[in-house]
Amino acid sequence: MTEYVAPVKTLKGKLVPPPDKSISHRSALFAAISNEKSLIKNYSQAADPQSTLACLQQLGVVIDQQDNQVTIYGAGREGLTEPTAPLDCGNSGTTMRLLAGIVAGAGVECSMVGDASLSARTMKRIIAPITEMGGHISGRDGAYAPLNIRPHKGIRGMRYPLPIASAQLKSAVLLTGLFGEEPTEVVESVLSRDHTERLLDLKSEPYGTGKLIRSSRSDVIPAQTYTVPGDFSAAAFWLVAGSIHEGAEIELESTGMNPSRIAALEVLNQMGANIAVENPRSEGKEPVADLKITPAELKAIKLDPSLVPNCIDELPVLMVAMCFADGTSSISGAEELRHKETDRLSAMSEILKRAGASIEETEDGMLIHGNPGFTPKPATYPSRHDHRMAMAAAILATRSASRSQIEDAECTAISYPEFWAHLNQISR
Ligand code: S3P
Repeated sequence: MTEYVAPVKTLKGKLVPPPDKSISHRSALFAAISNEKSLIKNYSQAADPQSTLACLQQLGVVIDQQDNQVTIYGAGREGLTEPTAPLDCGNSGTTMRLLAGIVAGAGVECSMVGDASLSARTMKRIIAPITEMGGHISGRDGAYAPLNIRPHKGIRGMRYPLPIASAQLKSAVLLTGLFGEEPTEVVESVLSRDHTERLLDLKSEPYGTGKLIRSSRSDVIPAQTYTVPGDFSAAAFWLVAGSIHEGAEIELESTGMNPSRIAALEVLNQMGANIAVENPRSEGKEPVADLKITPAELKAIKLDPSLVPNCIDELPVLMVAMCFADGTSSISGAEELRHKETDRLSAMSEILKRAGASIEETEDGMLIHGNPGFTPKPATYPSRHDHRMAMAAAILATRSASRSQIEDAECTAISYPEFWAHLNQISR
């Protein structure tokens, strides 16, 4: 489906961001291997977290879903059953990588498949450590889905320094570790999102510049009611949209504010954005707040590469903000963007060039020569079926002089099914 985005005069209104994708996945996965019945409030209806629920059902987990409220009857670590068909992870890297940690740890015979995009993303990063721990997991050409998982003779603990700042990899190893008698110790020197250790109450301690996190069979999956906060990564589109439109006033309710997720807020603040953080509080084990965004004269920045892991999903829309900032901005240390749902450096480079922005794609980032008066050319923007590309292009197009088109716009349903309705609702 093609979505037409008309230029807007301004953006005004109050939105509730969709439930957090990362926390939805984790709450379902952890509830499934607990011995208790768990309630998840505000579970995401987006395609990716729904893939996780479907896979868990295939593994024999009883799940009752009433709109955003999900009840999961935990099967326990030993209670997952062999599925009769391949587990279909759809487009979801988090489903495939985290669930692989669980099924390989449990030794459930199964295979895991994904769509064309997921099948082209490397799984070698999880296959290597899980194999080293004694799990039996293999992939096409040693690196890609379909993955095949077979029973094993026992999971061994190990100390694992994370070779990439990836929360999916960290979580996959820690989840496999939950099936081993000896502890598995994951060492991360650059901190990635910490929802797994937070929700599972895993023991951790400072280690060098980062931390060491442990998991083993003796960790009890905590019985809890999960409350999923609003997704900061979805909110980021409005943080940028509100910053670049004269007269804008956008309020976002109950937005997740986990410190390991909100580097984009820091980046926008460094650029001079006007974003008020109000009413900070906790929802379950996660911090949330209400955000108020009004426009600002943005200035260019050199993005600190150490912030990249904590704004990895927000970098595409930050690139849009940089097009409207005064001066040349630079992003480096973001090579991981090439391994997302699509190569996001190449995809954003194509989108921004079609808009007429002055940019240079580099191996691990981008140089963006911004201009507060920039008016994107009306264009046809390819999303490459990547939800974050479609949404970043849409925010860009709202500053155009006439109508643009976003191709394959339905892909926003991967993380934010209400995106187009929300854009309409606040467009003036
Ligand atoms: C996620 C981690 C990030 C992120 C993805 C969700 C998670 O991926 O890009 O959208 O829920 O753990 P990496 O861990 O590969 O960086």
